[in-house]
Amino acid sequence: MSPQDRIQELTDQLNYYNDQYYQHSQSVVDDYTFDKLLEELQALEQQYPDAKRPDSPTSRVGGTISKEFATVYHRFPMLSLGNTYNETDLIEFDNRVRKGLNGDGYEYICEQKFDGVALSMTYENGLLVQAATRGDGVRGDDITHNIRTIRTMPLRVKEGRGNATSSRSSVPPLFEVRGEGFLPLAEFERINKEREDIGEPLLANPRNAASGTFKQQDSAAVAKRRLDCFIYSFLSDEPVFQTHEESLITLAEWGFNISPTWKKCTSIDEVMAYIAEWDTKRFTLPLNTDGIVIKVNRYDQQRELGYTAKSPRWAIAYKFKAAAAATTLNSITYQVGRTGAVTPVAHLSPVLLAGTVVKRASLHNANEIARLGVMLGDTVFVEKGGEIIPKVTGVDLSKRPESARAIEYPTECPACGTPLVRQEGEAHFYCTNEKHCPPQRQARFEHFIQRRAMNIESLGEGKIELLIERGLVEEPADLYDLTNEKLLGLEKTYPATPVVHADGTEEPGKARTVKFGQKTVDNILTAIDRSKSQPFGNVLFAMGIRYVGSTTADRLVDYFGSLDALMAAPLDTLAGVPDVGPRIAESAFAWFQDEDNRRYVARLRAAGLQFVSEKKVVALESDSLAGKTFLYTGTFTNFSREAMEERIAANGGKLLSGVSKKLNFLIVGENAGPSKVAKAQQLNVPMLSEDEFMAMLG
Ligand code: IVH
Repeated sequence: MSPQDRIQELTDQLNYYNDQYYQHSQSVVDDYTFDKLLEELQALEQQYPDAKRPDSPTSRVGGTISKEFATVYHRFPMLSLGNTYNETDLIEFDNRVRKGLNGDGYEYICEQKFDGVALSMTYENGLLVQAATRGDGVRGDDITHNIRTIRTMPLRVKEGRGNATSSRSSVPPLFEVRGEGFLPLAEFERINKEREDIGEPLLANPRNAASGTFKQQDSAAVAKRRLDCFIYSFLSDEPVFQTHEESLITLAEWGFNISPTWKKCTSIDEVMAYIAEWDTKRFTLPLNTDGIVIKVNRYDQQRELGYTAKSPRWAIAYKFKAAAAATTLNSITYQVGRTGAVTPVAHLSPVLLAGTVVKRASLHNANEIARLGVMLGDTVFVEKGGEIIPKVTGVDLSKRPESARAIEYPTECPACGTPLVRQEGEAHFYCTNEKHCPPQRQARFEHFIQRRAMNIESLGEGKIELLIERGLVEEPADLYDLTNEKLLGLEKTYPATPVVHADGTEEPGKARTVKFGQKTVDNILTAIDRSKSQPFGNVLFAMGIRYVGSTTADRLVDYFGSLDALMAAPLDTLAGVPDVGPRIAESAFAWFQDEDNRRYVARLRAAGLQFVSEKKVVALESDSLAGKTFLYTGTFTNFSREAMEERIAANGGKLLSGVSKKLNFLIVGENAGPSKVAKAQQLNVPMLSEDEFMAMLG
């Protein structure tokens, strides 16, 4: 077979596998075979670029760097929707529709109002040729390379042109689909967990994270964040469908990702019932939504109703009320994180918001303060969105008191006085005194003792603080010099912090005493001793090198096998390690060059920590789980987490890191994570109890 023919064959084969996987939840081949075929195709395409097909699956992994996005004009302007917040407005909308249609019968399609980024995709002869952001509605940015990385976005629609096997229509030669691009909540949480590990400031919310990702210039970085998109409209010059309903059904057949949550309603009462149903059910969806979109179903009726300058008369958005409240901004404090990033925190007069009392809210960074134009003493709006920490979303300027004071962002670290710096392109200011700044030091210890690092968690809850305060430890290596004599009898009482109740009343709270009795000291010393056998990957993660999270640490360990090999590696070699880009490589390289760090590493080595990888070889017990993928959530009676993972591997199963269509079984224990369970339900992933899992093991 000629290389050109092989390219054709591989493209078809891999597209078929992708389609089976993403549209039908079927794994036809194992990951390894898939990756090998993809690599073969990539290599051939590099040699014979002319033979590369526009629907090549290799474009899903990114690799294109665009300096600037080209501007594209939308063939049809991208309008917005009118908003309503209550039933009266909705009934008025319905009356306008009835009047506009002169009493003709009509139906509505209700859909979720997805909270992401509006995208427009153009298909020519069945191929995805262009994808753009909304921009100002008339022109947007060409982000085709980034959109290609979305696994659920067809690069070629399923039915070839003129092929009438589709139940309704053949694919027109030119059409556009529009939809909402988003970062799934589970993915958002995963990214933030990773950022927390490496001491990076957290992403504010899934929408901003999605919007930032879609505009990244390196499409390979985009591919790593598993973006997704729900399609909600179809546009073409020639009429193709009679109704919106028909378009949704057919687009799903063509391979587009249509959220199955839409519903046809024949009266405004049914619309209200749909709204009431989704007001609570929306929290089980894989993304944030902020309302319901109601659209007249028939296209001829849509045309009859027409548009205002900004929005269609045939559709409206009913917005769910975000939990919001107004309160006073009393002061701002600045928190210093492990890597020195400074985050402003708003201190508010206590206010009740969605059932809890809010006293603090995030202000993210200096840019956000400037954007809001907020001053001390202002009445501000706080909201709780999909995120856990409430945020300040606006200022009530009409209530600004005369005494309001401008916020002076600190120029020096609030903890140690070192001048703050901001690198180009960074939103946060940093304190560079990483070795001696007290909160950075404390955070470094907390990072070191966590379970995924050295697992000395018996030192948590104020104990580290006391050891630092008493001068017993300065850096984590000092933990290995602690003795019974040094620890026994240490004691400190921390003053009470007031507790605010839901009705706004305050209680003084309880003072807290940290006490090192014999039992506590024994536990701590045992945990410190046991930490010496934590695997090398954990040790590397524990060192707290910026950007080296636990996954990256494991990658480096897999590649180099020992700390000596890692420390001797030139920058190029580091940057060439799978999943380690230039940014991580530079950070790790510089870290190991630093004299103080080398001395620190030498001390850890002398303490007896693991600096060589010891790949655990699991002896196979049976093949009862062969070819199946698992994930567990919660806790179990008969298995620790480690034991659960070992049993899965020892019986031929594979552990996955998240709920996806690839997952065959979710094992559900006590206190299972609700988002994992909801996602599994949504994707129809079967769930197993502990007993059922044990039965499966045989
Ligand atoms: S239809 C003429 N359907 O809401 C506008 N829009 O204000 C047609 N959106 O930025 C839009 N979910 O990105 C439509 N199911 C849905 C939607 C939806 C979210 C967004 C859209 C646009 C905004 C409109």
